[in-house]
This record gives sequence, C-alpha cells and structure tokens, in this order.
Amino acid sequence: MGHAYRAVGWNRQKKRYDAALTLGIVAYLALFIGASLAFDPVASIETLVLRAFGSAAFVLLHVILVIGPLTRIDRRFLPLLYNRRHLGVAMFGLAFLHGGFATLYFHGFGDTFPLVSVLSANQHLDSLAQFPFEILGVAALTIFFLMAATSHDFWLTNLSAPVWKALHMLVYVAYLLVVGHVVLGTLQDETSLLLQTTLGGGIAAVVLLQAWAGLIEWRPDHTRPASAAADGFVAVGLVNDLVEGRGVTVSLGGDRVALFRHEGRVHALSNACQHQNGPLGEGRILNGCVVCPWHGYEYRPACGRSPEPFTEKVPTFRTRIEDGQVFVHPTPLPAGTETEGAVIEGASA
Ligand code: HEM
Ligand code: FES
Repeated sequence: MGHAYRAVGWNRQKKRYDAALTLGIVAYLALFIGASLAFDPVASIETLVLRAFGSAAFVLLHVILVIGPLTRIDRRFLPLLYNRRHLGVAMFGLAFLHGGFATLYFHGFGDTFPLVSVLSANQHLDSLAQFPFEILGVAALTIFFLMAATSHDFWLTNLSAPVWKALHMLVYVAYLLVVGHVVLGTLQDETSLLLQTTLGGGIAAVVLLQAWAGLIEWRPDHTRPASAAADGFVAVGLVNDLVEGRGVTVSLGGDRVALFRHEGRVHALSNACQHQNGPLGEGRILNGCVVCPWHGYEYRPACGRSPEPFTEKVPTFRTRIEDGQVFVHPTPLPAGTETEGAVIEGASA
C-alpha cells in the first residue's frame, strides 16, 4: 500500500506546511500592527489587535477560496490543496480571537451577557449606515466553528461524504456574511483607498477564479461524446493516447470517468474520489492502485475498491477496444464491481 494513503497523520510535508503557515500568520500580524502604528501612532493597541486578527482571518479566507479553482486551472497548485483544512482551522482560530476580543471589549462591561449584547444592542436593521454588522460576523463565525469542528476525517466518515461536503459548502454563505460584515462595519466610515482596493480585489479574485475554473470543468461535461455504438458504448479516444499508469478524464454526458491503461488493459472508474470528490483521472497508478492526487486515497483499477483494511469503493464502468478506439459504457456499475478491463492487443501485461 502506498505510504501516502491517509490524509490524517503527521508527516514531514504537513509539518513544513504548518510551520510556514504559522510563520506567515505571525509575520502578517506583526507587519499589520507595525505599519498601522507607523501611519497612525495614536491608534489604540486594542483596535489594532482587533483589526490585525480580523483582517488576517479575512485574507486567509480568500487564500482558502482561491486554492480550489487554482488547482483546477494549473496542477502545480496541488501541494497547496494538500493541507487546506489546516488553513481553515487556522482561519477559524484568528476569526475567533477577533470576534471574541471584539465581544468582550465592546460588550463585556455591561449588565447584559456579552454575546446577547452583541446580538441585541443595535436594532437598526433597516438602516445600511447603522446596520448591526457584528451580527453578520457572529453568523459567519458560527459557520466557521461548525466547519472547523467537523474538519477531521472522523466526521467525514460519520456524517457521510455528501453531508460533510454540503456542510463545508456553507463556506460561501459565510464568505458573503463576512463581506457584509466588513463592508457595513468598517468601510462605511473608512475612506482608506487601500482598504477598499484590497476588499474589491479580493472579491474580484475569488469570483473570477471560481468562474474560470467552473468554465474549465463545465466544458468537457457539455461536450457531446464523439459517437455512441448501437450497444450503447461510447467512443472516448484512442488507446495509443493512453500512457501506462497515468489517468485521463473523459466525460460521458455529464458523468466524469477516469480511464487508466494498466498492465495491458484499459479500466474505467468514476472520477470522484470517496474522500472529498478529488479527481481520480488526474491521479496515477502506484503499486497497482489508482492514487487520488489530492490526499492519496487508493483504489484498485479493476474493481474500484480500496485495498484492505480500507473499505472505500467507487463505481466502475465496462470498457472495450475496437480498431484502436476505446469505448466505455456510460452506465456505471455498482461501486466496487469487478470488471475485466478491455484487453489491449499486442500489449504485454
Ligand atoms: C463574533 C463575531 C464578530 C464580531 C463581534 C466582530 C466585530 C468586529 C468589529 C467591532 C469590527 C470593527 C473593528 C474596528 O475597525 O474598529 C470588525 C471588523 C472586522 N472584522 Fe469582525 N467581528 C466578528 C467576526 C468576524 C469574522 C468571522 C471575520 C472574518 C473571517 C471578521 C473580519 C473582520 C474584518 C476583516 C474587519 C475589518 C478590520 C479592519 O478594519 O482592518 N470578523 N469586526
Ligand atoms: S484523497 Fe482526498 S479527495 Fe481523494
């Protein structure tokens, strides 16, 4: 079994990633507070700490949101994706320090419980100029808490992949809430061009990169397969274009299928990894198993099952070869179904 099979567990790469992340955060906080003091020497340290943590969380949130599309646009960004969950947990930590500090600092000295005071002190819901922007921050922080608390693979297994994924898609709702929090909270009074440009640039980067990656993903899904034979098999390309052990992704009317040439046969599996829907067609075969490029889950090419003791399985597809052309039947077989794989004539197994 491949050494990189599981996402959880510490290895040198993860430790380096986390060390770089910690250093980056500390450097950002120091730079932010230093530069703010240089421009505004009378600013209170409490305000600067509050802003430093809030803006660090906001910047990290943007980094998290652009990593996904960047890896789809260029595979060289894949190493960033490897530990994205740690970025998410770090972002929650920063946002929690920011929100907690703001709650205690602005609402901690009255008779009302601080969180109740945050939620009820300002009732101007009908006014943009005085909108209680902190409530949007609390809502976003609640979502980030749920995501951070369920970030471990234990929850992925217990909640099931679709529920976990749906929960983590809430990050986009949280992003909108944070944008509202920042726009309504600080930019109303701020005339700082730097702050406005940073905010506008960040939002534009997230929207444009998501749209670009969406277009790349959408195109193959909506391209009609070249031709379908009478028995329903669909031509997907030439066998000679397949490289031993390297995946290729083909689209069959909306379903993405990962094709592999392995030991004289062509096998087809669902492209979606059971872990977090990673693209198996962008993976390779190592030690007889397809290895997901995202976190290293493994599947046997003929049956789509993970090697024991693991129990993940993905659907497989029937394949055949005619005149050098590879055909795949678009109906997926139940996950884990053994297939023979189309035999490549003249290839040594
Ligand atoms: C309990 C939840 C939260 C509360 C009570 C809260 C409170 C505040 C307050 C009072 C400010 C104005 C600070 C000032 O400029 O004087 C602020 C600004 C800000 N908050 Fe929050 N917040 C919360 C959650 C969040 C979250 C979840 C994020 C992002 C992930 C966030 C990001 C920001 C940013 C980027 C600013 C602007 C900082 C700057 O001016 O440089 N906040 N927040
Ligand atoms: S191993 Fe994480 S998505 Fe495949």
